[in-house]
Amino acid sequence: MALEKHFVTQNTNPKNLKIIHLIKDKGFDTWLTSQAKPVQNWVQTNSFKAKKGDVLVIPNKDGLSEDALCIIGESKNLYALSSAAAKLEGQYQLNYKDIDDKTLFDLCVGWALGQYNFDRYKKPKDKKENAKLLIPANISPQAVDAMITSVQLVRDLVNTPPNDMLPKDLEATAKTLADTYKGDLKITRDQDLVKHGYHAIYAVGQGSDNRPSLIDLTWGNAKHPKVTLVGKGVCFDTGGLNIKTGNSMNLMKKDMGGAAQVFGLARLIMEMKLPIRLRVLVAAVENSISGNSFRPSDIIQTKKGLTVEITNTDAEGRLVLCDCLAEACLEKPEVIFDFATLTGAARVALGPEIPPVYSNNKEVVNELVECSEEEEDQLWNMPLWKNYNSYMDSSVADLVNSSANSFAGSITAALFLQNFVEENTPWVHIDCYAWNASSKPGRPLGGEAQGMRAVFSYLEKRYG
Ligand code: BES
Ligand code: ZN
Ligand code: ZN
Repeated sequence: MALEKHFVTQNTNPKNLKIIHLIKDKGFDTWLTSQAKPVQNWVQTNSFKAKKGDVLVIPNKDGLSEDALCIIGESKNLYALSSAAAKLEGQYQLNYKDIDDKTLFDLCVGWALGQYNFDRYKKPKDKKENAKLLIPANISPQAVDAMITSVQLVRDLVNTPPNDMLPKDLEATAKTLADTYKGDLKITRDQDLVKHGYHAIYAVGQGSDNRPSLIDLTWGNAKHPKVTLVGKGVCFDTGGLNIKTGNSMNLMKKDMGGAAQVFGLARLIMEMKLPIRLRVLVAAVENSISGNSFRPSDIIQTKKGLTVEITNTDAEGRLVLCDCLAEACLEKPEVIFDFATLTGAARVALGPEIPPVYSNNKEVVNELVECSEEEEDQLWNMPLWKNYNSYMDSSVADLVNSSANSFAGSITAALFLQNFVEENTPWVHIDCYAWNASSKPGRPLGGEAQGMRAVFSYLEKRYG
């Protein structure tokens, strides 16, 4: 269990724990006046501002620095203990009053996320041991563990360099999940993709020595409601023959970020034993350049039967997804969620922290956006604006894969996908960045779970 790296648990009967006093920002002044003079002086000497997330080690009555105080807010406290988790040393328990269980759960999750670092390729020198927190009595250590390991899995997958995160490595990740949770795994590789009609996945992957595949994992009781997750697993996106220029290729190892979200979410669902029949579809490909790469002006077939004129080989994500979505719809699931690092335009519109979410079902998306707010995993609903469908018209095929004009790039990508979804199948598309563009407490620069906690909360409320 990853739990012991960050926590101590009640059942080990831990002794001599130091204390973190959780103080609400608004109640700080009142709290301070009730403290002994040395504590008041200490707070003043340290120019402590008492903003949410701030942490201060304070002297105990013997004048020794032992306990800490940490400031939380009235709500949204996921990352309120993240700085403390990174800075403190030793073992702690929380001292608090009037804090609900959801907040305590979030504080524990943020504590562990504050201690995340990706050290597979660079072992930190003189790394101190993580501070450990006693999980409060009402909080399920298993639920905390399930959440943090799933976020860590997403981050690790995205952070792993592309030479170690190729289609076969995504397949191995699925295999581990299938073995651990007794799921069924089917992998369709290379020429077999064509045989089974996944022409678009094949076309994107055809130029790479790292052969493409469709990963299909199912888990759970067949009688339970069917929920399908679809992930874009482009292990590296060079742009293909429409090669990316300048710096725009730098971060493209994270173009399997959708697949990472979906594996993390699947792990969380299976670990928490949600009563659903889960299906995970991941298209694992590398969009690379060779004599056999697909070309601008190729016209390709798709699983759905629609033809697509390739106008830009860099708009490859929607191609691999469209075959997955068509496949997903065949068994008429209750709902489909797809995750993809699909467009640069989504970042232009909403920046790196807020993935746009699109859906053909208002109820589902409204509920999901509400969950995203509660979970501090914000999603923003954007429209599937019908008029822009004409941007994707082709004179020689059913669709182009990239619009001739550059307006509304995230919307037109979502509209493209909608062509491959059955009208009466509720479908949600999340155009995520899967990356923290800068370091903040609990959110280090690098791979990030985006939308995963929101969708889990939605599923838990709906089916749990
Ligand atoms: N993987 C990129 C999208 C992307 C770019 C995500 C930068 C995050 C950061 C995707 O495959 C792509 O290249 N999209 C193009 C589409 C265009 C050619 C219509 C884009 O957004 O520029
Ligand atoms: Zn691309
Ligand atoms: Zn891409």
